[in-house]
Amino acid sequence: MIETITELDALRARVRGWKREGLRVGFVPTMGNLHAGHYSLVMLARQYADRVVSSVFVNPTQFGPNEDYTRYPRTVDADVSGLDGAGCDVLWLPTVESMYPFGVELAAKVHVPGVSSVLEGAHRPGHFDGVCTVVSRLFNQVLPDVAAFGKKDYQQLAVIRQMVADLAFPVEILAGSIVRETDGLAMSSRNQYLSAEERPVAAEIRRTLLAMRDGIAAGRPRAEVEAAASRQLDAAGYAVDYTVVRRPDLSEPADGEPGARVALIAARLGRTRLIDNLEF
Ligand code: PAF
Repeated sequence: MIETITELDALRARVRGWKREGLRVGFVPTMGNLHAGHYSLVMLARQYADRVVSSVFVNPTQFGPNEDYTRYPRTVDADVSGLDGAGCDVLWLPTVESMYPFGVELAAKVHVPGVSSVLEGAHRPGHFDGVCTVVSRLFNQVLPDVAAFGKKDYQQLAVIRQMVADLAFPVEILAGSIVRETDGLAMSSRNQYLSAEERPVAAEIRRTLLAMRDGIAAGRPRAEVEAAASRQLDAAGYAVDYTVVRRPDLSEPADGEPGARVALIAARLGRTRLIDNLEF
């Protein structure tokens, strides 16, 4: 049975006990409203650890002033039973006050330069500072040996990897594959904001990513592929933030240069901002 812990001292005592027994600790940080994508991360962490902790914390410092912090879905009872079913041992449920004891304004912040400033970072200023600030706190609270993050948030994973390498966190980062609905829409807590009319249109993001991959494979110039993708989404009714093809480290490749690529999209459908990506 999963145990829910709300006090840091109790969490530390539980983890200390496990470590005394020589057990490896896995960690899956979340903001709750969990779905199959999150549960697959718990199962991934389980493969590399003897015990798994997951946190549910809607982190105020990673939301911009006009974003959905207050309306972000909070579904803790369903999350507890889902985590239990996925094999999670402990749910860590901190409060905003315990996460930011000096208040959000006076909180020490973690900033990872470079990779934080492009794409999502450019469209959501300060977002990755909030993510790194909370993830570094969570790592210090849970003291995991491994931690799993989803590839759906491709740039977040890159930022976290850089933070862990730069600040020498003794945590191995695992990357979980994107889990999709049957029509290809990447699972996300924000999908539930989509109206019944918008929901089928949301699958256009995946079709556009596939078209980008095919365009590059056919040798078309990157700028042309990116512009065509933007037009495809525009025509389907999206307001596009970006449609880009990058190297895996998110730097810009030259046309014709061999090597792995990732296509990334961020676009708004009505009030819902969707992000997705495809590695090839
Ligand atoms: O990916 C998320 O849900 C959040 O950004 C994370 C990593 C839990 C930090 O709040």
